[in-house]
Amino acid sequence: MRRLFIFDTTLRDGEQSLGFTLNTAEKLEIARQLVKLGVDVIEAGFPASSPGDADSVRAIAKEIRGVSVCGLTRALASDIDCCAEALQAAEHPRIHTGIGVSPIHMEKKLKLSPEQVVEMAAAAVKHARKYVGDVEFYAEDAFRSERAFLVTVLEKVIKAGANVINVPDTVGYATPSEYEELISYLMDNVRGIENVVVSVHCHNDLGMATANSLAGILAGANQIEGAINGIGERAGNSSLEEVVMAVYTRREQYGLDMKVNTREISATSKLVSRITGIPVPAHKAIVGAGAFMHASGIHQDGVLKDKTTYEIIRPEIVGIARNSISLSARSGRHALRHCLGELGYQLNRGELEDIYQKFLRLADRKREIFSSDLRALMGETGIYID
Ligand code: KIV
Ligand code: ZN
Repeated sequence: MRRLFIFDTTLRDGEQSLGFTLNTAEKLEIARQLVKLGVDVIEAGFPASSPGDADSVRAIAKEIRGVSVCGLTRALASDIDCCAEALQAAEHPRIHTGIGVSPIHMEKKLKLSPEQVVEMAAAAVKHARKYVGDVEFYAEDAFRSERAFLVTVLEKVIKAGANVINVPDTVGYATPSEYEELISYLMDNVRGIENVVVSVHCHNDLGMATANSLAGILAGANQIEGAINGIGERAGNSSLEEVVMAVYTRREQYGLDMKVNTREISATSKLVSRITGIPVPAHKAIVGAGAFMHASGIHQDGVLKDKTTYEIIRPEIVGIARNSISLSARSGRHALRHCLGELGYQLNRGELEDIYQKFLRLADRKREIFSSDLRALMGETGIYID
């Protein structure tokens, strides 16, 4: 089986979200959980961006074992020196260096000629290789670059010693078929690409980051970069949990091996949400509070007969104890009987019908019905905590 490496950038690209920055203690707490989750690489930060971020990378490099710890740099010797220093204590250090390669980035942002960009890219990789054996190169805005130029840059950095090539869709502009085609093209046309890991890094501006990452994997990429809960700059990064669960759930199609412990997904998502203060929408795939809840009577009836009627993932696989029936005015008798049964009530048909009518009247007034409401409907008195 082909191996898929999971590169987590929650602490770097994910942290480039509006409204928060993580301190060292917070980054360490998330990094420890990422180890439990079983990712292959933790991108801990961008050391040259601030002394605080360098401290965080240093602390993670010192403590975290069993996974690669990575730091981001621009294609500047000073950034790389700072990153190498921060990563000194890491068991498996990786320097992630790179530069913009699209005409827009080179002309408007960097104000450099293509020749200067190639030179800086190769020099950065060579410089990073003096410090560590594991160097990843990112061709920023690769999707909007010119093909021939992208091939030239990638060949030069592979020759300079890059072991991993990252092909970002920096602004989330690609469609899945286009991104798949780009990765296939690079696989066929970049000399030396068979000797390196090819990484996909997709942003979610058009809501296609997960689909694009999967398309890149189908084209032969063997590393995926993403953030837990999909957090990040603008509309965020690929949601790591979505890509992982797509590859797991559709394993016959992808045929890929990962070392992720999917049962840690829910805990990781909750931790990241709590620490960053970014809530997870209830309907968010895999980790939303409602992702395994069944609300309508037809669905609840189906799930109570056989879970696979409406569940493609067993909730335990992502670390959620069991699927929940959410009682509302859309629920049917089957769901109500099930929930009452869990509270210890066994009702005959007539009793069920009677309580069901009362239940509907209450549910029309209340969005969700909890166990305490059911107990009250059954005539119990007292205070209960749901
Ligand atoms: O989106 C991007 O291009 C990046 C690079 C810095 C890797 O985050
Ligand atoms: Zn990015």
